[in-house]
Amino acid sequence: MRNCIQESVSLQKLNTFGVQATAKSYVSITKESTLPDLYQQRFFSQPFFVLGGGSNVLFTQDYPGLIIHINNRGIQHFIEGNVAYVTAAGGEVWNDLVWYCVDHNFPGLENMALIPGTVGASPIQNIGAYGQELMHIFHSCRAFDTQTGQFTTFNNADCEFSYRDSVFKRTLRGRYIITSVTYRLPLQAAINTSYGAIETELHRRGIATPNLRDIAQVVSAIRVEKLPDPTTVGNAGSFFKNPIIPKSQFQNLLIASPQIVHYPAGDHHEKIAAGWLIEQCGWKGKSVGQVAVWKNQALVLTNLGEASGAEIYRISSRIMDDVAHTFGITLEREVNIL
Ligand code: EPU
Repeated sequence: MRNCIQESVSLQKLNTFGVQATAKSYVSITKESTLPDLYQQRFFSQPFFVLGGGSNVLFTQDYPGLIIHINNRGIQHFIEGNVAYVTAAGGEVWNDLVWYCVDHNFPGLENMALIPGTVGASPIQNIGAYGQELMHIFHSCRAFDTQTGQFTTFNNADCEFSYRDSVFKRTLRGRYIITSVTYRLPLQAAINTSYGAIETELHRRGIATPNLRDIAQVVSAIRVEKLPDPTTVGNAGSFFKNPIIPKSQFQNLLIASPQIVHYPAGDHHEKIAAGWLIEQCGWKGKSVGQVAVWKNQALVLTNLGEASGAEIYRISSRIMDDVAHTFGITLEREVNIL
């Protein structure tokens, strides 16, 4: 076991921002059974961080503990009545799972094609895109409790999902390691083209009755168009969450800024497009040192090549200050800051 632990490992290739940071120690987990071994040897009583695809993390300094890199693989399914149950290992690449489901004609994941990251991370932040959210297809996950050394199962309600949030980001933060996820995919589920950009792109391609493959392809094309490719431009997708504010505050904002981009969020709240707020503050496409705000989507911060995590963090604070000053709204970072 001790041989599996490497010391002083560079994290630069293991985070999609591509920032340099060194982990004091590192272990790659290719099978679940390594986790109880780590527990036996008290590795979880020291600082540790669980890394998946590294697509939602910003290292602002060297990591002083153990990086646990989840690399187990495997996808299986069975069908019961009209429902497909698909179980994927936590280390599987999310987009590979999307295409597995498309290839088998299992609906539900196609609107979330090309979201970076791994299966194990998908419930943690309840990933979502183009009118679909993980919580609607999540059945359960298997997770290792680093406090007791036992495996346990979380069902949908246990995860307390909400917009880009779950119990794993709140009360159970850092405690469980998700080793596999089961998705529940009703085979009759309707294809969802309600998101404007999907409709427009389908129309442009002359597709009137799209199948799952069409949707996954269209969503992938929209993402490629709008979002920078992390393999060429360091980034972690949306850096901020779309803020959800009380209706009363929203009504006041609407008077001052009638163009504000917003979506209903229940009876008492409104969700505001953070990208719009940031753009209004003049940040879209702007660069400072080695950090740039993406030209096609102001929610995304990019590394021009040599940025440090601390530098990206500083720019994000400046953006948050400007939005707070201009609109009275406090943005929250979606990316994990370490
Ligand atoms: N907008 C602007 N300026 C911008 C960006 C957006 O004015 O620079 C306005 C536009 O009116 C646009 C609207 O905001 O129509 C919505 O933009 P978009 O469709 O890009 O969606 P978003 O709310 O900015 C969210 C997710 C994305 C996801 C898209 C599509 C969050 C934090 N982000 O962005 O997720 O791809 O919807 O569903 O919820 C990610 O999490 O990494 C991510 C990219």
